[in-house]
Amino acid sequence: MSAPRPTRPSRLRRAPGAAPATRRGGGARLPGIRPTALPARGGADWYRRGVFYEVLTRGFFDSNNDGIGDLAGLRAKLDYLEWLGIDCLWLLPFYPSPLRDGGYDISDFLTVHPDLGNLDDLVEFLDDAHRRDIRVIADLVMNHTSDQHPWFVESRSSRHNPKADWYVWNDDDQRWPEARVVFVDVETSNWTWDQQRQQYYWHRFYSHQPDLNYDNPDVVEAMFGVVRFWLDLGLDGFRLDAVPYLFQRDGTTGENLPETHALLRQLRKEIDAAYPNRVVLAEANQWPSDLVDYFGDGDECHMCFHFPLMPRLFMAVRREQRFPVTEILAQTPEIPDGCQWAIFLRNHDELTLEKVTEEERDYMVAEYVKDPRMRRHMGIGRRLAPLLDGDRKLAELLHAVLFSLPGSPVIYYGDEVLMGDNVYLGDRDSVRTPMQWSPDRNGGFSRADFAQLYLPPLMDPVYGYEAVNVEAQQRNPSSHLHWLRSILQTRRQFPVFGTGTFELVPCGNPSILAYVRSPLPEAGGPERARRTGRPGRGTRAGRARARNGDEGDNPVLCVHNLSRFAQPAELDLVRWSGRTPVELLGRVPFAPVGSVSYGVTLGPYGFYWFELIEETAGEQPAPGPGGLA
Ligand code: NOJ
Ligand code: CA
Repeated sequence: MSAPRPTRPSRLRRAPGAAPATRRGGGARLPGIRPTALPARGGADWYRRGVFYEVLTRGFFDSNNDGIGDLAGLRAKLDYLEWLGIDCLWLLPFYPSPLRDGGYDISDFLTVHPDLGNLDDLVEFLDDAHRRDIRVIADLVMNHTSDQHPWFVESRSSRHNPKADWYVWNDDDQRWPEARVVFVDVETSNWTWDQQRQQYYWHRFYSHQPDLNYDNPDVVEAMFGVVRFWLDLGLDGFRLDAVPYLFQRDGTTGENLPETHALLRQLRKEIDAAYPNRVVLAEANQWPSDLVDYFGDGDECHMCFHFPLMPRLFMAVRREQRFPVTEILAQTPEIPDGCQWAIFLRNHDELTLEKVTEEERDYMVAEYVKDPRMRRHMGIGRRLAPLLDGDRKLAELLHAVLFSLPGSPVIYYGDEVLMGDNVYLGDRDSVRTPMQWSPDRNGGFSRADFAQLYLPPLMDPVYGYEAVNVEAQQRNPSSHLHWLRSILQTRRQFPVFGTGTFELVPCGNPSILAYVRSPLPEAGGPERARRTGRPGRGTRAGRARARNGDEGDNPVLCVHNLSRFAQPAELDLVRWSGRTPVELLGRVPFAPVGSVSYGVTLGPYGFYWFELIEETAGEQPAPGPGGLA
């Protein structure tokens, strides 16, 4: 296997697969670069309690005013991200790329796109993030490369070159007809004819993104070298892009194959052996029964996006009924210990409608697509706020559901200020416009000339940067930004949102989505207090300890009204009778749970989160802000 083409800074490069000087203990061990200390807080399963924030470096902040966001700009905004209260950043691809698929078309896996800076900038950014206990994961695009990647350039050059089998070639375009075309609105086949090599090559996405051939051990070793390179540098893990498609087999759809899972187990083993406390997060747009396979027996990915849940959250609020959400959760199998779902409302892609029925897709399109231009691939190219017609109460409700369902929430940059979109831009650029920092020129994103910006900022009167920006919302304590920050602070105090069990609470009113998140039985409680002599979770001291994040907590009851009208909720809480619900945001105690159903009234799109406190002799619930206890 030959070494990759050197690009700057060459002192940091080595052949993929070559062992680094040392790679134990985490942190960069590459020659000529000072190590990045990994964050201390959180323990090995930090990702189960963390809040993730997805960021497009190109769109976040431009430090050198060339019109393009960059790593130094991202670093300059770490104060803001720390203030917001996020635990882990997920960076969209920052590698060299012709940018025909937002950077998912990589032409060099081992450095940074020059628009965004260089490896030194990345390390400085990682240092600074880690000092603040903010972790950083990045996209790892294993499935394909750009057709500009030197591996493909060599592979296509003839049928007999050292990289001839690094991609998937065939003499005709008839093989594997069962494999669907993913970008169905743009591509007509998964095969494209290559004039030079006089053969077809295989691609699951754009025709300029040839798939790598994982049946070739050299490809596997090269990609594992890429993984080691970035983990040595100090990344906390990866989002594994398009991971279901790594292999092809006759008579199959080429998705979720056993060979793919075997490769993921191998990858996980490599990572566990040398890089503690890292995480791999699978991007697999699959049904729940296939999705859980990406956790393996706890020996594949630590995390996996719950794709089918996302459109159903939007469906549920439009139908004003919990059924779409409860149905998909009922179909979702348990996951192995130490694993976690990643859940989200929106991301950098279209709101995908791949994993819904045809009838549900028609419904979503009828409800959420007001202009045919909003369609993208199999989904809808819109951001959160415009999808909700700018309804802030509804945005709060959806965030409350997102932050309390099982899984680690992933926030898409800009959604914390309810940014809008631009459906007149091509492909998914509609949702990738510059972050809106202030009412200044270019929304405070860049001081470059407007025409120089990588994409135009929003300037419409409703969602434009004069109306929607971080600075204004930071100054206004009643803004959505402050609301979001404060609910994240509340969530952080209750580890049960990350690691607790989940139990639906029966309610006759179909608009009410209610559930209890409970600590795992072994996490605390009076029984444990008796056994261990340490305070149990139902006591004041136990609660204080839980606030320190080292232990489970009381159960938390979450009640959400999915309707735009006020609704009554009669909840079957008999299992918790005797406990006092204390509302989490204001610490106001409600009437204790009795032996009959528990009645709560919720305003339009209202929600309550209650800690269910079990009083021990002599204890009272903590007083509310108005002294209501
Ligand atoms: C999934 C990414 O999220 C998407 O943006 C990209 O187009 C495809 N993978 C292909 O790389
Ligand atoms: Ca720049």
